[in-house]
Amino acid sequence: MKPVTVRTLLKMKADGERIAMITAYDYPTAALLDEAGIHVLLVGDSLGMVVQGHATTVPVTLDDVVYHASLVSRAAKRALVVADLPFLTAHLSQDEVLRAAGRLLQEGGAQAVKMEGGKELAPLVTALVTAGIPVMAHIGLLPQSVHALGGFAVQGRTLEAAERMREDALALEAAGAFAVVIEMVPAEIAAWISGQLRIPTIGIGAGPGCDGQVLVFHDMMGLTSGYIPKHNKPYANLGQVVTEAAKAYLADVAAGTFPGEAQTTHLKPEERAHLEAHLRLQRTEP
Ligand code: KIV
Repeated sequence: MKPVTVRTLLKMKADGERIAMITAYDYPTAALLDEAGIHVLLVGDSLGMVVQGHATTVPVTLDDVVYHASLVSRAAKRALVVADLPFLTAHLSQDEVLRAAGRLLQEGGAQAVKMEGGKELAPLVTALVTAGIPVMAHIGLLPQSVHALGGFAVQGRTLEAAERMREDALALEAAGAFAVVIEMVPAEIAAWISGQLRIPTIGIGAGPGCDGQVLVFHDMMGLTSGYIPKHNKPYANLGQVVTEAAKAYLADVAAGTFPGEAQTTHLKPEERAHLEAHLRLQRTEP
């Protein structure tokens, strides 16, 4: 199968084919998702919440995302790898943003970056694209602004908010973004915006009218404890699988039934005969 590029995603939208994106933060998970045919792997700063144990994405650093992107990009043979510019990065000087995004591509191995924000970021998007760095925009709920917003709430419920969001999306498209994530927006508004863009929209909590969908790996696979957002669909319960396996191992170790013969290496008879002459060996065979 051909690798997914930003052009593939534009063509998918033109052909009415939906895009599937999942977050990934490590090599084995990324390899499984890539083999499953997922189009885009997002090294999201959600890693702060689902991997690092923080309450928000704010503490995640550029070094963190570079590191996780390097693990994911090593595994991705076909999927497009997109890495998040973490908190504040998109609001530094243009030079600093270019350098930060450059690190995500050069050291992290990502093929594109994602940036949270509206039309105020348009000049930056153009600067990045001009430098050869594809940009995925992100509008609606901006988790990096959680403290300014006062929580993780649905956005775009009023006429003004919906109009502003549409203007943001159009400005980011005109600036050169190749896709736009729409997070936690009523389905009607997200579909209305999607219908006006040439570039694909990728929704999360934004209804089925977007051109693609994204879910956070740990949420969809049942690895997150505590609050699970309404838009999540549990496709697996890996949390339960891991807990049951750990308990079975604990019981085996306590009972002395692990390791069994299948997991054990013994001395060959001639080795044993030789060593027994020098050592007081115990019998370990059943
Ligand atoms: O960081 C992330 O995982 C994201 C997705 C929720 C879109 O931004």
